[in-house]
Amino acid sequence: MGRLSSIIILLGCLILPSASMLNQGKSNPYDLSNIIYTTSGITATATYHLGNLQSANETVITKLFLNITYDNPQRVRIRITDQQNSRFEVPYDFTNYTIQGNLGLYNVTVSDNPMGIQVIRTSDNRVIFNLDPSNWFSYDDQDLLFTSTFNYGINVLGLGERISSFILPTGTYTMWARDRQSPVDNGQSQEGNMYSVHPFYMIIDEDTGSAFGGLFYNANAMQAIVGPQSLSFRSTGGIIDLWLFIGPAPEDVVFQYHQLIGPPVEVPYWSLGWHQSRWGYRNISMLTQVYDNYTLYGLPLDGLWNDIDYMSAFEDFIYDPVNYPMNNVTQLVDTLLATGKNYIPIVDAGIAQNISDPYYINGTNQGVWIMNPYVQSAPCVGKVWPGNATFLDWLNPDAQTYWVKALNTFQQLVSFSGVWVDMNEVSNFVNGCVGYQTTLINNLTMPWTPGQDINVESLDVAATHANGVTEYNMHSLYGYLESKAAAQYFIQKQTRPFILSRSSFPGHGKWASKWLGDNFSQWSYMEYSITGIFNFGMFGIPMMGADICGFLGNTNLELCSRWTQLGTMYPFSRNHNEDESIPQEPWAFGPLLLETNNLSIRNKYMLQLYFYTHMMKISLEGGQLFKPAYWEYPNDMNLLYNATTSFMLGKALIVHPCLWYGITGSTSFFPDDMWYDLYTGEYIFLDYDNSVYLDMPWPGLINIHVAQGFIIPIVDNYNNAMSLRDTRYSNISLIIVQGPGVEAIGSVIFDDGSTYGNMANGNYLEVEYQFFSHNSTFDYLTLQQLSYGYSRQTGEWPYISTLIFYGCTAAPESVYKLSSGMIPTFIPANVYWSAEDMICKIWLKNYLQPDEMATLLIDYFI
Ligand SMILES: *[C@@H]1O[C@H](CO)[C@@H](O)[C@H](O)[C@H]1NC(C)=O
Ligand SMILES: *[C@@H]1O[C@H](CO)[C@@H](O)[C@H](O)[C@H]1NC(C)=O
Ligand SMILES: *[C@@H]1O[C@H](CO)[C@@H](O)[C@H](O)[C@H]1NC(C)=O
Ligand SMILES: *[C@@H]1O[C@H](CO)[C@@H](O)[C@H](O)[C@H]1NC(C)=O
Ligand SMILES: *[C@@H]1O[C@H](CO)[C@@H](O)[C@H](O)[C@H]1NC(C)=O
Ligand SMILES: *[C@@H]1O[C@H](CO)[C@@H](O)[C@H](O)[C@H]1NC(C)=O
Ligand SMILES: *[C@@H]1O[C@H](CO)[C@@H](O)[C@H](O)[C@H]1NC(C)=O
Ligand SMILES: *[C@@H]1O[C@H](CO)[C@@H](O)[C@H](O)[C@H]1NC(C)=O
Ligand SMILES: *[C@@H]1O[C@H](CO)[C@@H](O)[C@H](O)[C@H]1NC(C)=O
Ligand SMILES: *[C@@H]1O[C@H](CO)[C@@H](O)[C@H](O)[C@H]1NC(C)=O
Repeated sequence: MGRLSSIIILLGCLILPSASMLNQGKSNPYDLSNIIYTTSGITATATYHLGNLQSANETVITKLFLNITYDNPQRVRIRITDQQNSRFEVPYDFTNYTIQGNLGLYNVTVSDNPMGIQVIRTSDNRVIFNLDPSNWFSYDDQDLLFTSTFNYGINVLGLGERISSFILPTGTYTMWARDRQSPVDNGQSQEGNMYSVHPFYMIIDEDTGSAFGGLFYNANAMQAIVGPQSLSFRSTGGIIDLWLFIGPAPEDVVFQYHQLIGPPVEVPYWSLGWHQSRWGYRNISMLTQVYDNYTLYGLPLDGLWNDIDYMSAFEDFIYDPVNYPMNNVTQLVDTLLATGKNYIPIVDAGIAQNISDPYYINGTNQGVWIMNPYVQSAPCVGKVWPGNATFLDWLNPDAQTYWVKALNTFQQLVSFSGVWVDMNEVSNFVNGCVGYQTTLINNLTMPWTPGQDINVESLDVAATHANGVTEYNMHSLYGYLESKAAAQYFIQKQTRPFILSRSSFPGHGKWASKWLGDNFSQWSYMEYSITGIFNFGMFGIPMMGADICGFLGNTNLELCSRWTQLGTMYPFSRNHNEDESIPQEPWAFGPLLLETNNLSIRNKYMLQLYFYTHMMKISLEGGQLFKPAYWEYPNDMNLLYNATTSFMLGKALIVHPCLWYGITGSTSFFPDDMWYDLYTGEYIFLDYDNSVYLDMPWPGLINIHVAQGFIIPIVDNYNNAMSLRDTRYSNISLIIVQGPGVEAIGSVIFDDGSTYGNMANGNYLEVEYQFFSHNSTFDYLTLQQLSYGYSRQTGEWPYISTLIFYGCTAAPESVYKLSSGMIPTFIPANVYWSAEDMICKIWLKNYLQPDEMATLLIDYFI
C-alpha cells in the first residue's frame, strides 16, 4: 500500500503536464447561465455538465459563481467561487480596494455554452486573457485548472520564487514556499520553487513588445504552465481569483499591480547603506572585531548583523551566556548606535519547545501554536535549529499580540534597529509533525503533485490553524503574515519597520523587505541576483538584495570584487556568508578587495539622496528603483532579451555590471539615448548598434552612466562619511546633464529618515530642481518646493555647494540668484569650463540652500 502510493506520487513528479496535455481535447465542462451585465461587471452561474465527468472519483463543484468586476480602467477581476459552499480564500488586506468601473480601455466578453471569457485591450485589440471554451477547465478540491491562450507569441516574466532567467522558458513552474538552496529552474524539474510564492506574471507580447499582467491570488500549492502561446494555472485548492492588469507598457503593469497590493513600506534612511553579516561570528569578540576592523580599515558601515550564532541552544531571543554575554552585547550595540550604525539580529520562525523558555511558555499559555491534527491540544512540533520547535498560527489574532510582545521583551534586552526573520517558509528539517510522520505521505492523496510532495520538509499539511483551517492552505503565507505581525511592533513605536524576511507573498512589501536567500558563491548566481531583484521589484518588494560575494561555498577575490561593485547598486547591500566558507569581509583578500569595497560603498553613499528619494516616492506610488532597461525603453526588445547585461536605477542611471571572470572590459549595449559617464562627465559615442566598449576595472568602480535631461543630487562628504548618518550633514552638489535646448530635472526628498508614515502624512520636504536652456547667453536653474512637511535640522544638508554640468558647450561667466521675484543678486561663484570635455562647474560657496525657493540665472561667455 505504502509502496504503491509512493509510486503514484513519483509518477506525479515525473509527468510534465503541458498545456496541451491538460486540455486533452476536452472542452470546458461548464455552461454559463443567468448572465447579468452591469456597469461594474458581469455575473453568471456556471453549471457542470454531468456528461463531461472526467472520472467518477472526482468531487467536482457542480455550481460555480462567476463574478467579473471592472475594478478600474486598467484592472479587471475575475472571481470564480463555489456557489454552494465556501472554500479557503487568502486573507487579503488590500486596504484601498474600490470599484471604479471600466472606461472602455478593455472589453470583457463571455460565452455561455461552454463557458468562455475573453478580455481584450481596446487600444490595440490584443487578447490579454482568453479562457477558451475549447480548453479543459476544472474546479474541484485538489485540481483547479484554467488556461489562457493567446493568438500571438508571449514572453512570460514573474511567477516567483525561483532562480531563473528573466524570461521564463516554456515549462512548468511550481509555487509552494520551500526552504531550498537555489536550484536553477528552467521549467523542467518542477522542483525549482523556493522561499516565496508570487503567482504574479507579466506577459510581453512577442510581436509588439507591449505588456499586461495578472495575479492569480491563491496560496495553495500550485503550478503555472508556460507555453509558447498559453499560460495555465493549476492549484490544489482555494478559489479562482484573478486580477488582470492591462498595461500596455511594462512599467504600467508594475504600477497597476502595486496599486492593488499597496505600495511598499518606507525604508529607514540608514538601511540603504552597507551591511555586514555572516553565519559564523561565533562569539561577541569576533563580532566586535568585525566592527573594529571596519573602523581600522576606514570603511563605512550601517548595519551589523547577527545570525543564529548569538543564540543559546538556537533559541530565538535568548543570548548564549558564554559566547554572547549580555553586557558585552550591550556594549557593542551601544557603540554601534553611537557611531550611527545599527544592529540587526536574526529571529527564526520556530520557537524552541523548551519548557523553561519563557517565549515557549507564553506561547503555550496563549494557545498561539499551529496544532497537531492527530492529538488533542498539542502543537504540531517541527524540527529546526533548536530541535523540537513550535510555530505561530497567524490566523489566531493572539499570535500577533504575542509576536509584538516578544519583540518588545527582546528590545528591552538589546537595542536592535531591525529584525531578520528567517526559516519562515515555514521550513522544517523533517516531514510533518515530529512523532507523527509514519503514515504522513500516504494520507495525502492527491490526484497530482505540484513538484515535490508538499509534506516534505513542511509541517504536516493537515496541521490546524484557527477555525480549523489547515496548513494545506496556510503554508505559503507564513513569512508574509509573520512579517506583517512584526511590522506592528515598529508601527506601534511610530518607527519604520525594517524587517528582512526570506519568505514572502503578494502584499509583503507593504510591511517588510526580503533578500534572495541562500545563493552560491558562483558567477552565475551573481547574474541571477539581477533577475531576482527585477522580479521582486515587480512583486512590490523593492528593498532587495542578494548575499554579496555569495553565501554557499567559497568565494574568491575577483568574484567578490565584482559582486561588491554590483551589490552596492542593490537597494539592499549586504555581504553575508555561511558558516563553513572562507571569510569574505572587505579585508579578507588583502588590499585589492579592500579598495573595491571602499570605492563601491562610498559610491553608494554618493548616490544616497538619489536612492532614498526614489525609495520614498515608491512608498507612495509603487514602482521600481532597480529595473530592467526595457522598462524605460520599451521600444527596444533587445533590452528585454538581454535583460541582465545592464539595469537601470530610476529613469536617469544605467549600470553595466561585469558578470564574467577574467575580463577588464566588454562591448556594452545602451538604450537609444544620450549617455554620459556619471563619474567623469564623458559623453559616450555609441556605435551604429548602440554599443560601445566599456573598461571594467577592478579595483575600481562599476560603470554608471546618466541620461541627458536629468539632475542627480550628490552628497559631498561621501569620501569621509563613516555611516549614512554622516551624509545627512553634508552639502549637496547637483550633476546637471544638459544639452542644447534640453531641460533637465531632478528632485530630492528630505525628512527625518525614520518615522513611520512620513510620506503618507506629508511629513517630508520635496524640492524639485529644473534646468532650462533659456537662450544662447542665459540658463536658469529653478528650485521649487513641492512639499513643505519637514524642516531641515541644524547642520542637515546646509548648502548646494557645486553645480556640475555635463554636455556644457559654453563657459559660465557669472551667476545671479532671483529669490521670490526680487532683483537678481550677484553670487561671487567660482566657475570652470572644459571645452574639450564639455564640463562646467560652478562653486556656489554658501549662497544657496537646497530648499530655497529660488532661481539661478547663469550667464555665459559667448
Ligand atoms: C475510483 O477509485 C477506486 C478506488 O480508489 C478505483 O478502484 C476506481 O478505479 C476509480 N474509478 C475511476 C473511474 O477512476
Ligand atoms: C463581485 O465581486 C466584487 C468585488 O470584486 C464584490 O464587491 C461584489 O459584491 C461581488 N458581486 C456579487 C454579486 O457577489
Ligand atoms: C487609493 O486609490 C485611489 C484611486 O486609485 C488613489 O487616488 C489614492 O491615492 C489611493 N489611496 C491610498 C492610500 O493609496
Ligand atoms: C464590448 O464589446 C461589445 C461588442 O463589441 C460591445 O457591445 C460592448 O459594449 C463592449 N463592452 C464594453 C464594456 O466596452
Ligand atoms: C566581555 O567583556 C569583558 C569586559 O570587557 C571581557 O573581560 C570579556 O572577555 C568579554 N567576554 C567575551 C566573551 O568576549
Ligand atoms: C580583523 O582584521 C584582522 C587584520 O586584518 C584580521 O586578522 C582579523 O581576522 C579580522 N577579524 C575578523 C573577525 O574578520
Ligand atoms: C510572558 O508573559 C508574562 C506575563 O504576561 C510577561 O510578563 C513576560 O514578559 C512574557 N515573556 C516573554 C518572553 O514574552
Ligand atoms: C521531540 O518531540 C518528540 C515528540 O513530541 C519527542 O518524542 C522527543 O522526545 C522530543 N525531542 C526532544 C529532544 O525533546
Ligand atoms: C541581445 O539580444 C539580441 C536578440 O536576442 C541578440 O542578437 C544580441 O546578440 C544580444 N546582445 C547581447 C549583448 O547579448
Ligand atoms: C537672452 O535672454 C536675456 C533675458 O531674457 C536677454 O536679456 C538676452 O538679450 C537674451 N540673449 C540673446 C542672445 O537672445
